[in-house]
Amino acid sequence: MPSADTLRAAIRDVVDFPKPGIVFKDITPVLSDGALFRDAITLICDSAGGQKIDKVVGIDARGFIFAAAVADRLGAGFVPVRKKGKLPWKTRQKAYSLEYGESVVELHEDAVAPGESVLLVDDLLATGGTAGAALELLDQLGAKVVGVTFLIELAFLGGRKMLGDHKVVSILIFN
Ligand code: PRP
Ligand code: ADE
Repeated sequence: MPSADTLRAAIRDVVDFPKPGIVFKDITPVLSDGALFRDAITLICDSAGGQKIDKVVGIDARGFIFAAAVADRLGAGFVPVRKKGKLPWKTRQKAYSLEYGESVVELHEDAVAPGESVLLVDDLLATGGTAGAALELLDQLGAKVVGVTFLIELAFLGGRKMLGDHKVVSILIFN
């Protein structure tokens, strides 16, 4: 059974990155360790609880790393939510705020068919602005979001309140 405690110990705090006052959770030590990365993917897959998933949706850019591996493991498709200007086809857009700035995300209009089962995956939940924007776009397409999973949740920032009544699972919660 993968140990969340071992994963937690590998996350590195970087103070004042990318702005003064932000304590940045650096996941690269997890990514660069084969066993830890596999454990992280296993725990995220387990969060789906055996439900049938048609599409795993990942958020640009760190979310892609986890979501693509999870999609492969679950036998699902992978769909990217990207920062503005990167997707070539017709998109829906949503502006949002995050812990250290503002941005716009986009989703291809045909990326998810109405009623398809979606697992939304990102590396980290902070204020919830990013995941909230992704959920808004998925809602516009008529996706059935059966779960939202993060490797890390910064619970003290209260981001869950941005995610409505979705089933939210965070592998590592920092209070
Ligand atoms: C980070 C992280 C989440 C988001 C969480 O992404 O990967 O997507 O911030 O913050 P929030 O809950 O306050 O919205 P970032 O925009 O830094 O992009 P990156 O993955 O390209 O580093
Ligand atoms: N995204 C938003 N806030 C973050 C933080 N504190 N560390 C890493 N990624 C983040």
